[in-house]
Amino acid sequence: MTDKLIIFDTTLRDGEQSPGASMTRDEKLRIARQLERLKVDVIEAGFAASSNGDFDCVKSIANVIKDSTICSLARANDRDISRAAEALQGAANARIHIFLATSALHMEKKLRMSPEQVFEQAKQATRFARNLMGDIEFSPEDGYRSDMDFLCRVLESVIAEGASTINVPDTVGYAVPELYGNFIKTLRERIPNSDKAIWSVHCHNDLGMAVANSLAGVQIGGARQVECTINGLGERAGNCSLEEIVMAVKTRKDYFNLDLGIDTKQILAASRMVSQTTGFVVQPNKAVVGANAFAHASGIHQDGVLKARDTYEIMRAEDVGWSANKIVLGKLSGRNAFKQRLEELGVQMDSESEINAAFSRFKELADRKSDIFDEDILALVSEESVLNDKEQFAFVSLAQHSETGERPHAKVVFTVAGREVRGESNGNGPVDASLKAIESHVKSGAEMVLYSVNAISGSTESQGEVTVRLQNSGRVVNGVGSDPDIVVASAKAYLSALNKLQSKSDRVAAQG
Ligand code: KIV
Ligand code: ZN
Repeated sequence: MTDKLIIFDTTLRDGEQSPGASMTRDEKLRIARQLERLKVDVIEAGFAASSNGDFDCVKSIANVIKDSTICSLARANDRDISRAAEALQGAANARIHIFLATSALHMEKKLRMSPEQVFEQAKQATRFARNLMGDIEFSPEDGYRSDMDFLCRVLESVIAEGASTINVPDTVGYAVPELYGNFIKTLRERIPNSDKAIWSVHCHNDLGMAVANSLAGVQIGGARQVECTINGLGERAGNCSLEEIVMAVKTRKDYFNLDLGIDTKQILAASRMVSQTTGFVVQPNKAVVGANAFAHASGIHQDGVLKARDTYEIMRAEDVGWSANKIVLGKLSGRNAFKQRLEELGVQMDSESEINAAFSRFKELADRKSDIFDEDILALVSEESVLNDKEQFAFVSLAQHSETGERPHAKVVFTVAGREVRGESNGNGPVDASLKAIESHVKSGAEMVLYSVNAISGSTESQGEVTVRLQNSGRVVNGVGSDPDIVVASAKAYLSALNKLQSKSDRVAAQG
């Protein structure tokens, strides 16, 4: 008999709390659809009470995603819980996730509440939520650093009030695997009604142990839900990475003996979508989804893999979505071939007109670049989603001049709310001149906190994918642009970041 391990994805909530990773509603919807294709059990779509924007995101996702349970985070108060329930009304399966800090440090310094007040509030909030919805999760924030006796009292009472999932966060990434696993085991042994709830782990990666801690919580502690994010996205050093947890449990089924509902072939498409949407580049040596994860460079390894794959490979690249189909597309490729490749890559377009728009951008690119790789197609469709977002600023054309010994100069033409404008400037280099040319007109005053260029498919013939991170009035946004010309890619990325700066609203963060 095997148990099922529930995969709870929080990319759109805890992942998005990473500075600069905030996403528009359309981007979140696109990622939620990919998470549904990946067959995650629970999608934490946001924190409905934190802002009107987050409320809309949770509501839109709840209205369209039908195969995964949709969850909203809520603080332990009636207003937050009612807002979450309202946003989740359209969901086929809905969950409210209540959190309240229980460590002495958080109660005293952050909440300024006594343990008795926290105990009462946790109980009341769970009772209130349980009257609105059947599926309630409770998280004692900073649970791992909480006093064991007090935590047992709180958790016993919220289970008695009807919480059906108990999540034990290592909010600050302080745990080590054996201790965390035993912590969950002790809670389950000491709480008399612990068998009435599913136990869940939620680990942050500050010491690089989020995946190891989560697996110990499963194996030693008996947890049957893991909270994780695509690419380990999240505040500070991030959250537990979904792809690593899933492939560890699948590859070492001999040890974990657990079932998963995940369609692992959708992992790579999800990873790329999240990376391209947020501008958080995946390191080449990242397990499972890094560019080198299945590359064998040394002669001895290559020789071994050619003779028998399992000499050096413990997983099959195809099983996580690396395409077995190495045929590249080009300017002679038709709409059907393009559409089929989108399907193979797990990209779903909502309408024929969206496919047509993406196909015409593909043709434009194919006129300038002979081989179009999967990476180019994924970059192209992720930019398409930005374009669909009724943007304020859109790129039109660019001319720049640079010569050794001369100061580079650029002229950029772009539209502002559909009206064509042009900006002109000198700069330290062609990219600097182009971005200053845009800024000479827009005058956003935003500070650039990150600029990075990545060759999408590795060579100088590749498209450049540029990420620009801007900060303005306390808000941080990322813009991503791609083009075979990196100066053009930079201008597109800058305009995309300006669009996001315009469309973001402030929100309350879950931690602190
Ligand atoms: O890390 C944490 O404690 C959280 C809670 C809100 C569950 O993300
Ligand atoms: Zn967290």
